[in-house]
Amino acid sequence: MPKIKIEGGHKLSGTITISGAKNSVVALIPAAILCDETVTISNVPDITDVDDLEKILIHLNAKIERETGKVVINSSDIINKEITEDLSKKLRASYYFMGALLGKFNKVDMYFPGGCAIGARPINLHLKGFELLGAKITEEDNHFIIEADKLKGNNIYLDFPSVGATINIMLAAVKAKGKTIIDNAAQEPEIVNIATFLNNMGAKIKGAGTSTITITGVKYLHSCFHEVIPDRIEAGTYLIIGSLLGHNLKIDNMIPNHLEALIAKLTEAGVDMEIGLDNIVIKEPKEYTATDIKTLVYPGFPTDLQQVMVTFLTQCNGKSSVEETIYENRFQNIKELRKMGAKAKVRKDNRKASIKGKVDLVGTDVSATDLRGGASLLVAALIASGVTNIDNISYILRGYDKIVEKLTNVGAKIEII
Ligand code: UD1
Repeated sequence: MPKIKIEGGHKLSGTITISGAKNSVVALIPAAILCDETVTISNVPDITDVDDLEKILIHLNAKIERETGKVVINSSDIINKEITEDLSKKLRASYYFMGALLGKFNKVDMYFPGGCAIGARPINLHLKGFELLGAKITEEDNHFIIEADKLKGNNIYLDFPSVGATINIMLAAVKAKGKTIIDNAAQEPEIVNIATFLNNMGAKIKGAGTSTITITGVKYLHSCFHEVIPDRIEAGTYLIIGSLLGHNLKIDNMIPNHLEALIAKLTEAGVDMEIGLDNIVIKEPKEYTATDIKTLVYPGFPTDLQQVMVTFLTQCNGKSSVEETIYENRFQNIKELRKMGAKAKVRKDNRKASIKGKVDLVGTDVSATDLRGGASLLVAALIASGVTNIDNISYILRGYDKIVEKLTNVGAKIEII
């Protein structure tokens, strides 16, 4: 099995260019099948989640062409058949085919999605939304058949502003008869990106980016060209790396507004950064002070940056606390970080951790526990003395485009072995 080998302690200078957002593109690709004409999506990251969605499109007989940074999809000959368990389980975002196929054919047949084991991650809110649009759900052993005679708009209140449920309901409602109102909708930038894409195809969606989204059903969606927004989690990861190792390191092609919570927390800890319109430059690392983090839905501190932030906090003087409010099991990386010398403890209920710094991390053999947990180990390895080998790197490659190349270009000693 391939591993990532990192020799730590090297200064990083130059420019890292941020790729298109994983959590946006993984919804845009299933959304594209709602259209019977050709759709072009640009700024597509080269990550294995996109490979897995391509496999599902091919399975459904859609045409997909991939060039560097671009996918062209034509779904006019798509066949609505079961998405096998193997394909459904490859990634979390396979669940967007539920909303997209239901919206297109009034029927979908697939299995419970996969994704990182960071909590139970039920899909009850997605299913509740589909039911309120008029669908019937038959579920047996993780196999779902969701079908409707006709989808009809309705008022849907989400008990929690779930990203996946908000997008899935938009996908199912876009061609439904009448008006759908999603209340307590998620407000993440990715939601706005998907709504813009659907509107570019002729959908009528208003309010994306606020807690109330209104969708007026349309009969037909037409061809369009759409660009994926920059990945705020990738940008945040490199910003944290830059805070620890950057010497005139520029994180380019990002949207600083999407990272306000992280920027506020790094600034509180003492990170000095120059914030431009679409970039952030870090002049040099400083001595940092401990700070407390609590993950929240957007625009709060993103859970997807919590694990990488834990590594940052090992380098801050004092005791920091990290509270995870979104997932029940997102501190698995701490066990691995402790092998490298981190002084961190997780509370019994797995919801809070305390981190004591500053400690000198030491390279060793560790294993990625999940995508962002893997990234937290990678950041630790970059600052540690000696060599670290990270196992289970398929998690990391699911979400970070050309990570080895991007870090090598700015001076890191990193390779896949
Ligand atoms: C998406 C992102 C993920 C990110 C998360 C929160 C994708 C592919 N993944 O995941 O990277 O960490 O948003 O920003 O975009 N929940 C329910 N019932 C539901 C749906 C969700 O209880 O039907 C719970 C989940 O278990 C979790 C919380 O709500 O505790 C947030 O989940 P959600 O916002 O839906 O996250 P995902 O869409 O899975």
